[in-house]
Amino acid sequence: MCGIVGYIGPRDATPIILNGLKRLEYRGYDSAGLAVLTNGHLEIRRDAGKLDRLAALVAEDPVEGHVGIGHTRWATHGEPSARNAHPHQGATGAVVIAHNGIVENYLELRDELGAEGVEFKSDTDTEVIVQLVDRYLSLGIGLVEAARKSFRHLKGAHGIVLLSATEPDKIVAARIGNAGGVVVGLGEGETFIASDIPAILEHTRQVVFLESGQMAVVGRQGVEVQTLEGKTIPFEVHNVAWDPVAAEKGEYRHFMDKEIHEQVRSLTDTIAGRVDFEAGRVRLPQLNLTRDLACRIQKVIITACGTAAHAGMVGKVLIERIARVPVEVDIASEFRYRDPIVDENTVVLAISQSGETADTLAAMEETRLKGGVLWSIVNAIGSQAMRIADGYISMQTGPEIGVASTKAYTAPLVDLYMLAVLLADLRGVLSDKERRRLVADLALVPDLAGHCLDREAEVERVAFALKDVKHCIYLGRGINMPTAYEGALKLKEISYIHAEGYPAGEMKHGPIALIDRDMPVVVIAPRDPWYEKMFSQIEQAKARGGIVVAVATEGDETIAKFADQVLWVPPTPWMLSPVTTVIPLQMLAYHIAALRGLDVDQPRNLAKSVTVE
Ligand code: F6R
Repeated sequence: MCGIVGYIGPRDATPIILNGLKRLEYRGYDSAGLAVLTNGHLEIRRDAGKLDRLAALVAEDPVEGHVGIGHTRWATHGEPSARNAHPHQGATGAVVIAHNGIVENYLELRDELGAEGVEFKSDTDTEVIVQLVDRYLSLGIGLVEAARKSFRHLKGAHGIVLLSATEPDKIVAARIGNAGGVVVGLGEGETFIASDIPAILEHTRQVVFLESGQMAVVGRQGVEVQTLEGKTIPFEVHNVAWDPVAAEKGEYRHFMDKEIHEQVRSLTDTIAGRVDFEAGRVRLPQLNLTRDLACRIQKVIITACGTAAHAGMVGKVLIERIARVPVEVDIASEFRYRDPIVDENTVVLAISQSGETADTLAAMEETRLKGGVLWSIVNAIGSQAMRIADGYISMQTGPEIGVASTKAYTAPLVDLYMLAVLLADLRGVLSDKERRRLVADLALVPDLAGHCLDREAEVERVAFALKDVKHCIYLGRGINMPTAYEGALKLKEISYIHAEGYPAGEMKHGPIALIDRDMPVVVIAPRDPWYEKMFSQIEQAKARGGIVVAVATEGDETIAKFADQVLWVPPTPWMLSPVTTVIPLQMLAYHIAALRGLDVDQPRNLAKSVTVE
């Protein structure tokens, strides 16, 4: 996961930055760098590889100064290399930037700046931001205003830090959209900035969290928080707990809440290193998927448990639709004992957050015995499911601590989408245009997730209305049928409310008998190819006196008229819509459980990693 650390104060910034980055190392990265202001100019050290490599660069050619920024990068645009590692400089060399996020419109911005004569020094999307800042600085505008003007050009969600040799008394930071962490740590005559609390915890417990749409002007004596429109606003200083685990929770009450909110970042990281937006291609090197294998595959069986199995059900729709390969989804505890039909042209794809789930591992073993090709999608690096597979995709979401899986559900949805595109590309079943469109849509995902999170207050109101219900039914269809399963699972596991997910078309074959005023019906009805069908479900439920909570696409006035409550999601390309439709349902379950005063992170009877049968 990309990490940011910044420092301004009397001490040498370099070791503070290196140590801070080290604390974020467990989140994963493929390159690292820092920039420190030394005698009026910026010194940059950066390279592909781990922090040891950066430390070695600094040891060979030391850099000392009292202001600096550092970054660990997971490549999204451009390969991991010294020229693509952050921090990046603009044309004048006066400004440096470190950035988390995806500049969705970077190709347009690069063309615009290129037409003005800017020569780009990297393949990254990030560089357009610093080139924009440079453009405004060269017009005689100060750093803060130049940054603000530049930010207005950006689409997507971002965490940003900027440092300029022309204004050495400050670092400018911003959180644009729901990009996840930018935290400012207050010390005595020194101030720290980080993407995550652990990076600065050894120096201070007094922190300020930037909200979406806020900028921080950070100096030695503290911080001024402004809106992106330039208005100075009051801020709250939080006292972070000494316990490092509690501190990691940061501004959130529960890990689950934090992890739901981390999804903008985890989705960015999921894409990191896997997508070449210019060529419109996906790369998944650890999957070891050759053209020969892609053409030979006759069937994919996705096997998993619980939430991971729901992700697999979405994967079925994606792989069948995009790559035209038949897919079965098999619950791992069933697959392992059923003597399944697997041969050398069958791929068995196990999905597991922990990579240690007993049933999933047993299903993988069964595949090995039968001679199938074994792939996995896992979050825990080095876990068994990663080690025993012929190829794997790592989720790149960082550790998930809340027992109820959230960010480790949306990450594999995107992994499966990328896998489907790669498979289709290698099998030659996608036109160049279609492939480019599918790949371009990936850049939208993090920010769309952020838009869902922005609507949390509305979800909380719905949670308040539903907090005392005894039963709930979730209906979905097509690619969002698994969203119904997942929404219901989230609710039941943390709030202990009985909830069932159902394919909407099955409603009339039985469950409709249950509908009355005491059984809310959550209908997942975004504008996807199944929309009309879902709409008729709403009518049927209403006709029987049911209370309907719809997950619907913003602007859908018709649904707004019929449903009792609406959880709005932004318009999303339909194949990626399960990412956005599930987020309000995660928040709904979370708020209902929190309102009921339950132990959200450790629900009764459940374990994070189910290593027994
Ligand atoms: C639900 C949940 C579980 C897991 C399941 C598989 O929120 O977390 O249903 O998805 O136990 O776990 P992994 O992914 O570790 O194999």
